[in-house]
Amino acid sequence: MDEITREKVLYALKGIKDPTIDRELISLNAIEIQLDNNFVKLVVHLKRDAIKYKDEINQKIEQKLRNAFGNNLKGIEIEFNEIENYQVIKKKLETIFLKIDNKRKANLGYVIAITSGKGGVGKSSIAVNLAYSLLKLGYKVGLLDGDIYGPSIPTVLNLEEKILTVENNLIKPLEKDGLKLASIGFMLPSVDTPLIWRGPMLHKAINELVNEVDWGDLNFLVVDLPPGTGDAILSLNSTVSISGAIVITTGQRIANVDVMKNINMLKSLNIPILGLVVNMAYFVCPNSNERIYLFGKNRFKELLDKYEIDLLVEIPFKLDLANDIEEGLPTLAKNNPDEELLNVFNILSNNIVKKLNLIRLKA
Ligand SMILES: Nc1ncnc2c1ncn2[C@@H]1O[C@H](COP(=O)(O)OP(=O)(O)OP(=O)(O)O)[C@@H](O)[C@H]1O
Ligand SMILES: [Mg+2]
Repeated sequence: MDEITREKVLYALKGIKDPTIDRELISLNAIEIQLDNNFVKLVVHLKRDAIKYKDEINQKIEQKLRNAFGNNLKGIEIEFNEIENYQVIKKKLETIFLKIDNKRKANLGYVIAITSGKGGVGKSSIAVNLAYSLLKLGYKVGLLDGDIYGPSIPTVLNLEEKILTVENNLIKPLEKDGLKLASIGFMLPSVDTPLIWRGPMLHKAINELVNEVDWGDLNFLVVDLPPGTGDAILSLNSTVSISGAIVITTGQRIANVDVMKNINMLKSLNIPILGLVVNMAYFVCPNSNERIYLFGKNRFKELLDKYEIDLLVEIPFKLDLANDIEEGLPTLAKNNPDEELLNVFNILSNNIVKKLNLIRLKA
């Protein structure tokens, strides 16, 4: 008999929405799960105006669970509870998540998701340099490559030949300069092996990279994600409590709809947004040392006001940053990194730490 786990139940319940706001109940953290020998007991919290849909939701849940688990399912019990709003529930459930996290072998510290609406805006470059910057500030840091279909961490750190090993039933992360690393890329036979997987496999992979890697005791786990509003962030969000997300965009994309979609997705998942990073925001003229804002200065102001988020930092367009990545030695991993970039990433790290502390104080 296959064991029914919390993660499997969450995955099975994907797609069931509060019809009044068109949002997934699992993303709203509105479903509490109790498991007893494959007997699934749920408490579904619904807002007042949604409670009239409870029979419909009940039916959908039963159907999804039966489809997912078939004969392994020993029984279902569903209770409905009316609530004021979903925010309250989030707080309550977070304490439950914390209890679960306490049982973990690893302490992940703050989990930071690096996100963007569109590809190629510099997520992986920023993730790896941010990880090194936090490391240089004296923190214990892990870097998880959440881009399952297009892992780039092995390449940007010149570790393409490395393979993860298993010790005492846990995956041993790779370590470089004290930075702990895990990527699906370290599990594939070669860098050009494509992964042809369906959604549930992606979920399983993210889950394993979080829960079955021996991360030890971390202060920060930086997660590099694929672009867009896809499955990876959903899987990460249902696997671990994300402390905060960073939204990355480039100067020319600031006002674009993909940035807004990204922000709205994080808000709908109740993931705290630490702030916006504008990458390739300006270019320092080598002759005059003047900052040239190729796509206009302060274009992000309107966006920040509209969504009530902060600017964490503007990163210059700098060939060194790209070349260092190309050579497999990110700028911040160097002994004497470029000063301007060192400074920029210091600002980013410090702003992240400040924001996370504020969120913790408010909780
Ligand atoms: N500030 C910068 N200055 C110069 N080049 C940069 C800068 N940031 C990123 N790049 C370059 O831009 C390219 C894309 O960066 P990167 O791979 O980090 O983006 P990404 O958002 O992770 O892409 P994907 O969505 O495909 O995962 C890389 O060649 C990188 O070196
Ligand atoms: Mg990337």
